Amino acid sequence: MQARFTASADFTIGVVDRRLFGSFVEHMGRCVYTGIYEPGHPEADEAGLRKDVLELTREMGVTLVRYPGGNFVSGYRWEDGVGPVEQRPSRLDLAWRSVESNAFGLHEFIGWARKAQVEPMMAVNLGTRGPQEAADLLEYANHPGGTRLSDLRRAHGSPDPFGIRLWCLGNEMDGPWQLGAKTADEYGRLANETAKVMRLVDPTVELVACGSSMRSMATFGSWEATVLDHCFEQVDLLSLHAYYEEHDQDLAGFLATALDMDAFIDEVVATVDHVAAKKRSPKRLRLSFDEWNVWFQRAFAGPEAQTWEDEPRLIEDTYDVAAAVVVGTYLMTLLRHADRVSVACQAQLANVIAPIRTEPGGPAWRQTIFHPFAHAARFARGDVLRLAVSSPTYAAEPYGDVPVLDTVATRDGETGEVTVFAVNRDLTEPLSLTGALHGLGRLDLVEHVTLAADGDARRVNTREQPDAVRPRRADGARVVDGVLHATLPPLSWNVLRLAPVRRGA
Ligand code: AHR
Repeated sequence: MQARFTASADFTIGVVDRRLFGSFVEHMGRCVYTGIYEPGHPEADEAGLRKDVLELTREMGVTLVRYPGGNFVSGYRWEDGVGPVEQRPSRLDLAWRSVESNAFGLHEFIGWARKAQVEPMMAVNLGTRGPQEAADLLEYANHPGGTRLSDLRRAHGSPDPFGIRLWCLGNEMDGPWQLGAKTADEYGRLANETAKVMRLVDPTVELVACGSSMRSMATFGSWEATVLDHCFEQVDLLSLHAYYEEHDQDLAGFLATALDMDAFIDEVVATVDHVAAKKRSPKRLRLSFDEWNVWFQRAFAGPEAQTWEDEPRLIEDTYDVAAAVVVGTYLMTLLRHADRVSVACQAQLANVIAPIRTEPGGPAWRQTIFHPFAHAARFARGDVLRLAVSSPTYAAEPYGDVPVLDTVATRDGETGEVTVFAVNRDLTEPLSLTGALHGLGRLDLVEHVTLAADGDARRVNTREQPDAVRPRRADGARVVDGVLHATLPPLSWNVLRLAPVRRGA
């Protein structure tokens, strides 16, 4: 099988926003407790933060982390998580039917984010609370001092403001499962008023309004349009969330799910631009895809099945090679929308549908899906090139003809390096790829790295075998007369790194 693409320096989609490589830490299951934070663990630092998880987070290249939820935030009182730990109350977490000790809160998160070298992205509770509590949290976090709340932060050991720029106005407010769910009109007005008040506290904030919880919501489309009718001028971004899984052992269909993500983004862009047109506004709202991942949701009994534990093992999905390849297609889909998607967060970071797994008192390890994320975060830099792609297809319901090749390329303007990311969706056949590279200078192959099924798409990493699945170097790729030639193994994620030929070489 053969596929080809043509790239030209003259045809670009947009610049890769570094905030596309975000993740998500929610007070849910073992993401925080025994995930990123475990006082007493042999790897814990003086603040109780797991150094092994911090190290993996940095290695993964995560640039931004959304916190503290998720559904959790819609019942959260941020004040519970600040001040002396021994005075913090334990509370019922109604979203996940767990007990929240509040041992980890805002200061601990900011301390963790600094060590992880990530930008914090905070969500405010617009479920059970409103503009006042959101403004209070922002004043506590970002105001330099001289007021009751900013001085309280100082008294709690943080003299300098946290300077948190990016804020989510609630979470999934259209979902009937959400604490304090709203109609589109109710939420649109609330988002507008909350944004107005928050901007008065700190005019430098960037605000994200909630889009639909998923593309399959009955109100998808009209929710976005109505919400933005109310708050279009006050917000900077609109959120999208999507989780996918394999249905009825239809691996070919699962491998095509990025086509749904692609259509979802296009539809949201069309909807937000429709609102702009109605308002005669030149503003082009950006998108925040702040929850995305593979989640084997049908295996989850839901919060109803929980019994008020402290750190229950919630949705600790184990990912195989196929899931890693699929995650690679989501990353490429986000990159292909670099003109409108500025922020994205894989959900979540540790244990809960996560690339990093830990055991309490035990090791931390990389799941298969860690690897495509780490590759994209490290090598997708500069401009996303608009490729013309020609690929064989296969049929998969409900997508129709699915290209066997999924690919995207970026070019770093500073170094001249070009990285081609490519997935071969075929389960049994290698794919021969040629890529014509126009106007990109003389390039040579640096390396071809692949994460491939190698005959078994179901291989996973475990505590006992943490590196059973890992990327390997592939042979044979080369650039000849400005054309890249490579062979992509069956069911594989690939990174082809090209660099300018050095003078004299
Ligand atoms: O990431 C798990 C949950 O999925 C989040 O709490 C919620 O926002 C989404 O429905």
